[in-house]
Amino acid sequence: MIVSTTLNELNQQLKQRRRQFPDEKIGLVPTMGFLHDGHASMMKRAKEECGYVVLSVFVNPLQFGPNEDFDRYPRDRERDTAIAENNGIDLLFMPSLEEMYPKKPLTKVLISEVTERLCGASRPGHFDGVGTVVSKLFNLIRPDRAYFGMKDAQQVAVVERMVFDLNIPVEIVRCQTLREFDGLAMSSRNVFLNEGERAQAVILFKALEQAEGWITEPGMTAPELKKRLNAFIGQAPLAEIDYAELLEYPDLSEPGADMELKNYPHALIIALAVKFGKTRLIDNRIVEPYGGA
Ligand code: PAF
Repeated sequence: MIVSTTLNELNQQLKQRRRQFPDEKIGLVPTMGFLHDGHASMMKRAKEECGYVVLSVFVNPLQFGPNEDFDRYPRDRERDTAIAENNGIDLLFMPSLEEMYPKKPLTKVLISEVTERLCGASRPGHFDGVGTVVSKLFNLIRPDRAYFGMKDAQQVAVVERMVFDLNIPVEIVRCQTLREFDGLAMSSRNVFLNEGERAQAVILFKALEQAEGWITEPGMTAPELKKRLNAFIGQAPLAEIDYAELLEYPDLSEPGADMELKNYPHALIIALAVKFGKTRLIDNRIVEPYGGA
C-alpha cells in the first residue's frame, strides 16, 4: 500500500497506475478516518468491484459548524493505516489541512432542497462543506466508483444529486450500515459514549424496528408515526431528540399528512438524530411500502 500525504504524490501515483492499467476501474472510499468495521466493509466491497482502490482520510473542517466537534473528532493515523492495509487498499491518501486548503476556499459547492431538512437543518452549512470536499476528492482522484455508507443517507442523496446535476463521471455506490451486536449503527463517534449513554443509544435501532412495523398498520399517517417515534425514543432518559422524521427518499420531500403510509407509492426514510450528552448519533431506515419499484 502506498501512503500519499500530498496532492503531488497522489497525482504521480494515479498517473503511473493509469498508464500501466488504462482499463482498470478506480474506486474511492472517502472517510474522515478513525476507521471501524463499517468502513472496512466498504473497502472490501470496493476491492471486489474495482482493480485499484483509494481510501481518503481527511477530517474536513468545512463540514463542521463553529460549535461542533471538529477539534475533538477522533483521529488515529497509525491505526487507520493498519486497517487500510489489512483491507486491500492500494493507495491511502491522508492529506494535511494545508495540503487540501492551501488558501481559504472562496468557491463552495452548494446543493439546495435535499440539504434543507434533517442534518442540513440542524447543521447549517454542513452539506456545503461535504459537497465542496467531495468535489475536490472527485477532481483529484477521478474515481470510476465512489463508496458511501447509508448511515449517512442524506449525504448519499446529496452527493448523488450533485453528481447528477454536474455530470460528474462517477458511479455512487450505496453501502449498507454495519451494526454492533445490539443494533447500534457503527460510527466513529460511538467512542465518545459513556457506559450509560452507550446502553441507551440502542433506542435508535429499536425505534427504527418499531417504526417499520407501524408503517404497515391500516390508517397510519406520517404525523402519527412521528408522534409515536418521539414518544418511543423519549423512554430513554438520556436521549435528547434532534429530529425523528419521515420523508420521501431520496428527494427528502414531506409525505402528504393525511396519506396512508401502508401502500405509499414512494420510498420513505425514517431518519433519526439523537444526542446523548455531547454525542450526536444518526440512524435511518429506508422502507418501500409499495414493495419497491
Ligand atoms: O462521511 C464522511 O466521512 C464525510 O462526510 C466525507 C464523505 C468523507 C466527506 O468529508
